[in-house]
Amino acid sequence: MENRAQWGTRAGFILAAVGSAIGLGNIWRFPAVAYDNGGGAFFIPYLFALLTAGIPILILEFTIGHKFRGSAPLSFFRMNKKMEWLGWWGVIVAFVISTYYAVIIAWAISYSYFAFNQSWGSDTEAFLFNDYLKLTVDPGQTGSIVPGVFLPLIAVWIITLGVLLAGVKKGIERANKIFIPTLVVLFLIIVIRAVTLPGAAEGLNAFFTPNFDSITSGSVWVAAYGQIFFSLSIAFAIMITYSSYLPKKSDITNNAFITGFGNSAFELLAGIGVFSALGFMAQQQGLTVGEVVSGGVGLAFVVFPQIINEFPALNGLFGFLFFASLVLAGLSSLISISETYVAGVSEKFGISRTKAVLIGGGVSSIISILFATQGGLFFLDAADYFINQFGIAFVGLVEVVVVAWVLRELNTLESHANGISDISLKYWWKACLGVITPLVLGYMMFDLFKTNLL
Ligand code: PHE
Ligand code: NA
Repeated sequence: MENRAQWGTRAGFILAAVGSAIGLGNIWRFPAVAYDNGGGAFFIPYLFALLTAGIPILILEFTIGHKFRGSAPLSFFRMNKKMEWLGWWGVIVAFVISTYYAVIIAWAISYSYFAFNQSWGSDTEAFLFNDYLKLTVDPGQTGSIVPGVFLPLIAVWIITLGVLLAGVKKGIERANKIFIPTLVVLFLIIVIRAVTLPGAAEGLNAFFTPNFDSITSGSVWVAAYGQIFFSLSIAFAIMITYSSYLPKKSDITNNAFITGFGNSAFELLAGIGVFSALGFMAQQQGLTVGEVVSGGVGLAFVVFPQIINEFPALNGLFGFLFFASLVLAGLSSLISISETYVAGVSEKFGISRTKAVLIGGGVSSIISILFATQGGLFFLDAADYFINQFGIAFVGLVEVVVVAWVLRELNTLESHANGISDISLKYWWKACLGVITPLVLGYMMFDLFKTNLL
């Protein structure tokens, strides 16, 4: 325990935490979720979820990791011998996500290469599904590996596991110190170009125009909480793991605010960039913004290639910058997810980091090959749906209820955080974690089970 790995600098930790947070969720998930759930009005439930659940849980996880100095299972075990399972639950969710997150990064690598000559052609949808993913309805073929996906996938795992093998300071910290500033610069270039395209104003209008009726609907609040949890990488055991490598003297409350607001700032930037580009494309094709909006795989790999096709100049360069941003954002998140199970396994079984990386990363990379087969997209959709519906917010709910009500640890954790932080936690923190968040999440889960199972 004395020679536990440590971050070299405060900035290193913040960049790693922000690197985990900023990911595909910011670039392709947030803009579409906001648009579908009230546009400008979505910011009300979104900010509410950020301030009452996102940042308070981030502070909670940073404090747990810092105080108990262990991966999530070990930290919960040290909090209470009966609670180790809570850490494993987050680890397992993180593990599942890592298997398909890696595949999407592999696609983005291929597409940053295709971007140079726009080799996706004019029918970008047919290109993605037929030419690139080689999706087939023939069940006899769904198991065959698609080399175009498989090769970049190997690269993704070599980079990720290589970074983890190099350790916390020399690997994770160093990688994020390169990836995150680069990502911000690349992304700023794209966003500045996007907002100056013709039609951008209509896109932004569509994005920001508030539909206030929407915020009385429960599903909009579910969407806001889901976005905050996924986007901040909370309730995945990740932030506990990362903060367990903090030095004794660390302003964790402040770090949590920086991470939370940094992630949201990037999310807003992505929304502005994506909707400017959508407005441009709608104008070029004589459609309304609403007709071209999409999110997820469709936005990044079908619509964005079309936007790049329409670009007035430097198509290859901007296409490359966009997909390279996806790769950098994705890799820094994948590194954090993988570190979570590597740390968990290595501490549980008392094996070295190297062994844990090879075993954990090995299993995860082998499973991920399933998604690089001709039926891969179907598995990927299923895994993503399952995780989002039943994984994230549910773990978050159980986590706050256990800490606040079963173990009644909030006071101890509060004084731990206050002892080392400039900002002193007041009643708001305990009120958010003890009352507001359990009530809102509890209601959400009840509603979910009602609509899904009854
Ligand atoms: N926070 C990341 C994003 O916004 C996704 C992620 C989820 C990363 C879970 C790690 C763990 O894309
Ligand atoms: Na995010």
